[in-house]
Amino acid sequence: DSDTTGLDLVLLMLLVHSPGHVCRYPLGMTGGKIQDEDISASSQWSESTAARYGRLDFHDGDGAWCPDAVAESSSLKEFLQVDLRTLHFVTLVGTQGRHAEGMGNEFAQRYRIKYSREGSLWVSWRDRQGSQIIEGNENAYDVVLKDLEPPIIARFVRFMPVTDHSMTVCMRVELYGCEWLDGLVSYSAPLGHEMIIRGQHVNLNDTTYDGAVGISMTEGLGQLTDGSWGLDDFTQSQVYGVWPGYDYVGWANVSFPSNEVEMMFEFDRIRNFSLMKVHCNNMYTLGVRIFQQAVCYFRSESDWEEKAVSFKPRVDIISPSARFITVALGNRMANAIKCHFAFSDTWMMFSEIAFQQSGVQHLSRRNPTHKTDDSNTRILVGCLVAIIVILLAIIIIILWRQVWQKMLEKAFRRMLDDELTARLSVPREAFTNSSTSDAESTSTYERVFPLDYQEPCGLRKSPEFRATENLVGSVSSQQILGDLPDMVPHYAEADVVRQQEVPSTRGYCIAAVGVPLAPGRDGALEEFPREKLTFKEKLGEGQFGEVHLCEVRGMQDFMNKDGSGPCNEPFLVAVKTLREDATKNARNDFLKEIRIMSRLRDPNIIRLLAVCVESDPLCMITEYMENGDLNQFLSRHELQTSTTDRLFHTLIHMATQIASGMKYLSSLNFVHRDLATRNCLVGTNRTIKIADFGMSRNLYRADYYRIQGRAVLPIRWMSWESILLGKFTMASDVWAFGVTFWETLMLCKEQPYSQLSDEEVIENTGEFFRDQNKQVYLPKPACCSDAVYCLMQSCWMRNAKERPTFQQIHSTLMECQGYLHTD
Ligand SMILES: *[C@@H]1O[C@H](CO)[C@@H](O)[C@H](O)[C@H]1NC(C)=O
Ligand SMILES: *[C@@H]1O[C@H](CO)[C@@H](O)[C@H](O)[C@H]1NC(C)=O
Repeated sequence: DSDTTGLDLVLLMLLVHSPGHVCRYPLGMTGGKIQDEDISASSQWSESTAARYGRLDFHDGDGAWCPDAVAESSSLKEFLQVDLRTLHFVTLVGTQGRHAEGMGNEFAQRYRIKYSREGSLWVSWRDRQGSQIIEGNENAYDVVLKDLEPPIIARFVRFMPVTDHSMTVCMRVELYGCEWLDGLVSYSAPLGHEMIIRGQHVNLNDTTYDGAVGISMTEGLGQLTDGSWGLDDFTQSQVYGVWPGYDYVGWANVSFPSNEVEMMFEFDRIRNFSLMKVHCNNMYTLGVRIFQQAVCYFRSESDWEEKAVSFKPRVDIISPSARFITVALGNRMANAIKCHFAFSDTWMMFSEIAFQQSGVQHLSRRNPTHKTDDSNTRILVGCLVAIIVILLAIIIIILWRQVWQKMLEKAFRRMLDDELTARLSVPREAFTNSSTSDAESTSTYERVFPLDYQEPCGLRKSPEFRATENLVGSVSSQQILGDLPDMVPHYAEADVVRQQEVPSTRGYCIAAVGVPLAPGRDGALEEFPREKLTFKEKLGEGQFGEVHLCEVRGMQDFMNKDGSGPCNEPFLVAVKTLREDATKNARNDFLKEIRIMSRLRDPNIIRLLAVCVESDPLCMITEYMENGDLNQFLSRHELQTSTTDRLFHTLIHMATQIASGMKYLSSLNFVHRDLATRNCLVGTNRTIKIADFGMSRNLYRADYYRIQGRAVLPIRWMSWESILLGKFTMASDVWAFGVTFWETLMLCKEQPYSQLSDEEVIENTGEFFRDQNKQVYLPKPACCSDAVYCLMQSCWMRNAKERPTFQQIHSTLMECQGYLHTD
């Protein structure tokens, strides 16, 4: 069942903004999809030259549509009309004269096009230079194709031959394009302004707007829906021979006292909106920036609904490139949307706005620049080239899909099999050197995506370690816990270790409190007496067991053998139990987790205190901290402006501790895989310890994404390579740290990427992978300094090697803390 997920993802990645998707399908004059009754004309010469004979490449009747030439005075108004039934995006038209196997010689040398979206308001098409006249045919048989630049969005299209009365004209036509799925029928906006920069006039008007242009623009479509996006430098354009600023519609803040521009979008019917994408210029050196905020209102009946959607894009202080900003519209139903775009600088410029509706596959409608062909040979060459290109594209897509499918399947299967999050573990990648069975799949990844991960050094397994592994399960717990060489456990060791039954050997229990489990040490391993645990509260429930909050008395006596246990007061512990009916694999994992946990010794990592494994249910007793988890702790906290500096200091102190704990884990080459505030516990004096039982808790269910109901993934915390390639490394923990750090500074008031749905988060992951500046980053938290945000962002570098190590993060934060202290 991972296949479909993989495939969906591939489709998602191929379809969502694949540039160069060509919207140039014949709409059905030749193919017959357009019915006879949808083809009409102002007049006809005879029954055999009626409108329905005006189909390109058809020879029926007298071979074309010919208007009534007698009515000379009306010849300027003759037209052949095609009703496409729904709105279409028309990018290309083809015309032909009447040949009728040598009998005819009538054709239109020039023609104009009019179009209408609803059938009453007609607009004359103009090219980008403002001309209405299209050069047509030169003989009666050749097809002449003309690109419509700008393209038309319409339901009705009229071809109007331009004649000089001296000759009869006949036409056969075809339209090319695709259906206009956006459903947008008009937008209105204030008139674009003129900018004068370095003595150059930059006109930011909406040149192709086809509605009414008065004090503002209403009831039309134009440049913002023409499928072409402006360049980073707004004074330049890909269109030849136009003035500076042609691609953009832009406004200066001086004319808007409210500091925002209102735009309204009207649709053909009530639709369910998931996203709006706004292509914005960001040449901040010239005072142009992406909007600071968008607030959108919805109307489905006659009134605007009160509840608005507002969105603040991340303010990018680094890149001046133009980009699409995605505004999540939260699946609201509406047939009109009104958005207020707030200025963040003197100028705001848009070149394209598109809407995506729930359940509608949005195809990019970018229109490649295309030379007009007007002779037979050119058409032939063009067609051949097109066919070759299409074939190549198909081959590439098939290959690409196969590769991706393979990789994604592997990645997903791996994630599913790993059951992912429940434990602290070491990535397989760390062991490619010694684990040959894994080498193949790893090399596949490496070949396709040379991500060049640094193999953590010194991780080759020693022979002794292997021996230990093989012994585990059949020997005493002392060997499990005490004889481990200082070596990292292999994540895939479940394959090696096959635990039979839990041996009921006397003394198969340990208390790890304060006892360094050095090899050879004769730790007295006793079962922790269950009766000393007093159940207080259920913290959570997982697939294989539960986590309880318990109170313990007499832990002191139990641990006194070492004399370094916690104080004698009753204190809180977290008790993780394994369900009695758990599978053998789950049991093995549980014991493995015990083994791993028992080796962790750091002031910022939750400690395993004791275990009960003599009888079912198996349980492990870990520290719990009186202030609960960091997420709850912080979200209870109210931001008081008077103490912002102090608060910031406290938050940095907390983050430093998390970094310190992670530094320790990374020194052991442990990969946590689920670092998040929900997995950090808060003690007295705001000590923070990293734990790992977040996923079993109902409270945080929304933080995990369920794949086919099986594995659950904390996708909002996961690096792109973890999601797409199943790679979990120290560097992906660093990514998660960045997100955790963000949560902390946001006081956990917001889920990461809260505006995005799970699917959109995965889509965003694809953008991180493609790295075309379309990825959305978490925004800078309010109380965060630039330097700290910079550190945070460095955790989300696409190249894992460029992310800082926990060592570096920790020392940076320590410095930062020192600096704050001396302030
Ligand atoms: C837009 O500005 C250009 C350049 O100044 C001008 O030629 C053109 O007529 C204007 N178009 C509209 C629709 O205002
Ligand atoms: C326009 O934006 C600039 C830059 O942000 C600002 O200095 C100026 O005050 C704004 N003008 C108005 C009228 O809001």
